[in-house]
Amino acid sequence: MPLISHTPAWKSLEQHWTEIAGWRMRDLFDEDPGRSARFSLEECGIYLDYSKNLVTDETMRRLLALAQAADLSFWGDSLLRGEKVNNTEGRAVLHMALRNLGRRNYQVDGVDVMPGIRSVLSRMRAFSDDVRDGRWLGHTGQRISDIVSIGIGGSSLGPKMVCEALRPYQSADLRVHFVSNVDGAQLVQTLAVLDPATTLFVIASKTFTTQETITNAQSARAWCLDGLHDDAAIARHFVAVSTNREAVIEFGIDPHNMFEFWDWVGGRYSVWSAIGLPIALAVGMTRFEELLTGALEMDEHFVEAPPERNMPVILALLGIWYNNFGGAGTQAVIPYDQNLQYLPAYLQQVDMESNGKRVTRDGVAVDYQTGPVIWGQPGTDAQHSFFQLIHQGTRLIPTDFILPLRSHHPIDGHHDKLVANCFAQAQALMRGRTEAEARAELEAANIPPETIDKLVPHRTFPGNRPSNMLLIEQLTPRVLGALIALYEHKVFVQGVIWGVDSFDQWGVELGKQLAAHILADFRETACSPGVDSSTATLIRRYHMAMSEE
Ligand code: F6P
Repeated sequence: MPLISHTPAWKSLEQHWTEIAGWRMRDLFDEDPGRSARFSLEECGIYLDYSKNLVTDETMRRLLALAQAADLSFWGDSLLRGEKVNNTEGRAVLHMALRNLGRRNYQVDGVDVMPGIRSVLSRMRAFSDDVRDGRWLGHTGQRISDIVSIGIGGSSLGPKMVCEALRPYQSADLRVHFVSNVDGAQLVQTLAVLDPATTLFVIASKTFTTQETITNAQSARAWCLDGLHDDAAIARHFVAVSTNREAVIEFGIDPHNMFEFWDWVGGRYSVWSAIGLPIALAVGMTRFEELLTGALEMDEHFVEAPPERNMPVILALLGIWYNNFGGAGTQAVIPYDQNLQYLPAYLQQVDMESNGKRVTRDGVAVDYQTGPVIWGQPGTDAQHSFFQLIHQGTRLIPTDFILPLRSHHPIDGHHDKLVANCFAQAQALMRGRTEAEARAELEAANIPPETIDKLVPHRTFPGNRPSNMLLIEQLTPRVLGALIALYEHKVFVQGVIWGVDSFDQWGVELGKQLAAHILADFRETACSPGVDSSTATLIRRYHMAMSEE
């Protein structure tokens, strides 16, 4: 397969970007009252307005031709057929099967994966109901009041983000905490306010070998035994979610307390599997299944809709437009919902671990940019920190705004202000403020002419800065499922166009290996031979600090 950058579709987009240099988005709106209707679509409870982008019908036509040149439909079909699209790890990628709820037939190596999925879902229901209804008791016979989920990366970010997003659905009787960092501060501070007799640990790790998770889990076990003084307590206070049964048993967790998933579920796509157990515990299994339903609806849309009406495809193509032709290196995600505060961090892993690649599936170095830097934080806070740069800085930063129209907390006056701010930011980015407008405003305020001359450049906004607006009715489990699946599919489409394997993550390995060597060096008085002088000095300084303790 030739690099996508060598195709006529790519070249025509390069050419097209030079043509749009003179366009002004505000003029496109003025000239075409139907623009917002034409560049918007509504699916699975999400209204996407992408009219505030530097695109015309012709741009979209050329972008769609690029998707076709990358053989998007072939890769979509391969995914659905359970083929080993994760070619560097020789694995199928079937997270869509996890939310299939019985409609499609998913197989891996000729074996139907659905019975296994259904069986784990029903065990999750039984277990989460037992804990929530007080039938599952701690070792001393007390009801569980706190869940501590220990995991990292894909075994933590998804459940943590979803639990926070669905906080309005949680009951105050069962609190959920997440510990991921090997920095002992997080575990110590979390456990400081908890009682071992009423705490249940969910140890979540696909491999059950991840250093951070196992270290935290061992310390949690020691804390539990310290408080309960009986090895038998572990069976009532520890459950595991993993693909590695042997390691779970070796750790000391009863295999009856293990919830299985499979190697065809990538870590960052695992929130739909038993990795979502903390969600089921927090909001109940019925709501967890609503989350799956929303994702399933987005899957069906992605699979069925033509590319020009396909929300993930459109988002992916717009991202490519700026990333590969407009020189944008980042993508901001700004939820106007405090409960979506962990969404940017979650999407960082989904997107950057998937498409942060420099070679194609065939191992050929690309000559174009791949995955952008994903970043963001909730509005309106973001407006008072980095929005200055998005409005008036020198960089092009495409921005996704995500906004629920109805709040779960409708206190008088708040939501109107939140919504008005969100709409205004998108409008300001698109329209900007011309020099003439800036001048007129200052004149109207009776500012002296010499001051006006000085201020005008600072008070001018270039505008023409692209954004997408994703409106949802209210942040429910169902629409949240659709929203997450939307971004998953967007990342998939972009990965197909860039020709990379979006499902491996070799880039995290080297650091892990070197950390193991350095850890070994901490036990010696001298560094291993061959360690560079910088790292050797850092190790020596750590030795000295430790010896002074
Ligand atoms: O950081 C690399 C990674 O493999 C992620 O992809 C994964 O989500 C995370 O580590 C956790 O891995 P595990 O679930 O095996 O503990």
